[in-house]
Amino acid sequence: MSPEVFAFFDEATNTISYVVKDPAGVSCAVIDSVLDFDYASGRTDTRSADAIIAFIRQHDLKVEWLLESHVHADHLSAAPYIQDAVGGKIGIGDNIRVVQDTFGKVFNEGTEFQRDGSQFDRLFVDGDSLHIGQMRGDVMHTPGHTPACLTYVIGDAAFVGDTLFMPDFGTARCDFPGGSSETLYNSIQKILSLPDETRIFVGHDYKAPGRDDYAWETTVGAQKAANVHVGAGTSKDAFVSMRDSRDATLAMPRLIIPSLQINMRAGQMPEPDEKGDVFLKVPINKL
Ligand SMILES: [Fe+2]
Repeated sequence: MSPEVFAFFDEATNTISYVVKDPAGVSCAVIDSVLDFDYASGRTDTRSADAIIAFIRQHDLKVEWLLESHVHADHLSAAPYIQDAVGGKIGIGDNIRVVQDTFGKVFNEGTEFQRDGSQFDRLFVDGDSLHIGQMRGDVMHTPGHTPACLTYVIGDAAFVGDTLFMPDFGTARCDFPGGSSETLYNSIQKILSLPDETRIFVGHDYKAPGRDDYAWETTVGAQKAANVHVGAGTSKDAFVSMRDSRDATLAMPRLIIPSLQINMRAGQMPEPDEKGDVFLKVPINKL
């Protein structure tokens, strides 16, 4: 089974959101949606999410799932906003509870912040399946970038989030709390054990040296042959030393502080104060 895949690229955060549609019906899932956020003014904007909602309405699609590949550190999720407009259940990896525990401490959240994943409609573990109309999706736990990262394998398409990027760009960083380059290597081997013709859809693209256009679709075979970080049989030791030394040079993502506080709540803002105003925190010297 080959799902129809429609990509929505957000240039501000280099994120690709996907609408994945059952070719035999009107059911679909939305993967990794974006709520636009201007950090300088503290203002949200729904332009990116509205484009997805308009597409869904225009094609009379039925949203069954709003899937998150992980708790993103570089953009805010629009899952609850899209859910309010067109429905669907919000799903993420069961290890979200580990992420909530870690960042609940970083942001000194009170007991009203539940660390049991209950903000989401469904928590997936490795080997779980889901349905989008007649199409079956299989859930693979692929940690390393974060402890809760999932890959959704839907028909002949794998949505890998931030594990593998395009072959000429490589792989995702592993230096966030709970990340591990060794774990990511093992997760990538699971993805690369899918059939060579499996289509791979990545969660971000930043172009790459020598490439002028954004790209987000590749295959397992192409990754195995040519991924600059893990292709051509790169050993675990070589990957780990490359990844760890490279990560040591990377700055934090611009939106990590707002993203974590909102995405660990399934895309909801923190509770408003008594006047109804919403605030985010900036932890000093803790990230
Ligand atoms: Fe990420």
